[in-house]
Amino acid sequence: MQDVIVSMENVSKSFPGVKALDNVQFELRAGEVMALLGENGAGKSTLMKILSGVYTRDGGTVRIFGQEYGDMTPKQAQAAGVAIIHQELNMCRHLSVAENMFLGREIKGTFALNNAKMEEEAGRILSELKIDISPRQIVGDLPVSKQQMVEIAKALSINAKVLIMDEPTSALTAKEIDDLFRIIHQLKEEGHGIVYISHRLEELQHIVDRVTIMRDGQYITCRDFADMTMDEIIAGMVGREIKEKFPHVECEKGKKIFEVKNLNAGKLVRDISFSVYEGEIVGFAGLMGAGRTETTRAIFGADPKESGEIFVDGKEVKIRCPMDAIKNGVVLAPEDRKKDGLCTKLSIRQNLALPNLDLVCTGLGVVSRGKEQKLCDEAVENLRIKTPGVDIDAGNLSGGNQQKVVVGKWLARNSRVVIFDEPTRGIDVGAKVEIYNLINELKKQGIAVVIVSSEMPEVMGVADRIIVMCDGRITGEVMAKETTQNEILTLATSFENKKIASH
Ligand SMILES: Nc1ncnc2c1ncn2[C@@H]1O[C@H](COP(=O)(O)OP(=O)(O)OP(=O)(O)O)[C@@H](O)[C@H]1O
Ligand SMILES: [Mg+2]
Repeated sequence: MQDVIVSMENVSKSFPGVKALDNVQFELRAGEVMALLGENGAGKSTLMKILSGVYTRDGGTVRIFGQEYGDMTPKQAQAAGVAIIHQELNMCRHLSVAENMFLGREIKGTFALNNAKMEEEAGRILSELKIDISPRQIVGDLPVSKQQMVEIAKALSINAKVLIMDEPTSALTAKEIDDLFRIIHQLKEEGHGIVYISHRLEELQHIVDRVTIMRDGQYITCRDFADMTMDEIIAGMVGREIKEKFPHVECEKGKKIFEVKNLNAGKLVRDISFSVYEGEIVGFAGLMGAGRTETTRAIFGADPKESGEIFVDGKEVKIRCPMDAIKNGVVLAPEDRKKDGLCTKLSIRQNLALPNLDLVCTGLGVVSRGKEQKLCDEAVENLRIKTPGVDIDAGNLSGGNQQKVVVGKWLARNSRVVIFDEPTRGIDVGAKVEIYNLINELKKQGIAVVIVSSEMPEVMGVADRIIVMCDGRITGEVMAKETTQNEILTLATSFENKKIASH
């Protein structure tokens, strides 16, 4: 058996109104991948922030390579060999890859920084990991997946032996996930210990050796992955069994509610036409970069349209900006919660009330505290947002609970059309089912629902009809009940140039 390199015992941590960690224990061995699992708000990120010196613990012991640490600073944790890749990536977007990797420990020359040396060193580590990125590239110009690789390279450049990855795959494509897993295997071989936090349970089998499960700030169990069934893992996380992962309700298909005709907006939205009928959920499937998010943004008026018509209940509506869309009953719960979906500096109350001011105001245009409170209470209860109150900053919520607030904003309205772009990204298994139930509720009320999702089982389980996009075009339409993953994948990869080649 490999050496224990991290052991945490009786670790506790409270925030105002929340006991985030309650006597938690955790262990990591050299050369293993330990999955750290639990529902949104269970305390996973908090525990790992303590191990990496971002937060100080209230009590308990932390040992790294046998040495006990008290109140660690991030620098001390780094020196002890711990590196964390945060759930929300935080790099300096305007600096280069090499500058980011050496931030705070720049290599100095006689007069100025030794850029050549830093770039050389960064290049060496990147190529060791077989990552194709130039050390001179500006980080903000890289896709999220590549930024993540840079974070890993940075961790290795400081000689980290304990690598914590907090939901590393939530924004990666299938190919990028393969790359990441290859790197994780390589690191494991070299004797690194890796903590892997993820809500994508289906990917665990490819990399994980052991699992630690937490619930409500408490330690539940730690076992070999091979000895557990998926149902046992889920039951450990949510404290109950989940019978139906994709609850489905049958509704009669009614009249046409929403129609998009010949929509064009840039390279990734080309001649898009589709309709949504009463009583159905339409899913958009496709690979990352297929143009699904761009399509939703153009419909919503977040990006300009070149041409196209939109109809709600048979009437043409002109949508030039999101406000036009909202007025006409069309809303969008966007993909990138940090950029578009949530004001992290505002409270949960403000986030929920802002897009619904017309609903919470009195006739005189004054916010009615009572109406606002009701709206907030309903959102917190319906989505089980884990928070001590609605007046805390949305930024202090756990990642998944932030996502619930984004979804909650739009559920309060009497909309005609609700578009969800990756609504369950970073959301735990139990809460996913709650979101599906809410989406089904909208469907039952006769609201046209569109859901964009990169998770194939999700689109197939939730939608009635699936539209597949590739390269900015619609390449096919299938009924969820009758299709297969393979059929969708074929449509999702029918690139125009491939067709030309086969002619
Ligand atoms: N800086 C903070 N201030 C106040 N409360 C916080 C802070 N950080 C975390 N919390 C609270 O601590 C609890 C645990 O949060 P944590 O982020 O550790 O959850 P998590 O298991 O990582 O969840 P997720 O899967 O959603 O990321 C939550 O109730 C959260 O709201
Ligand atoms: Mg977290």
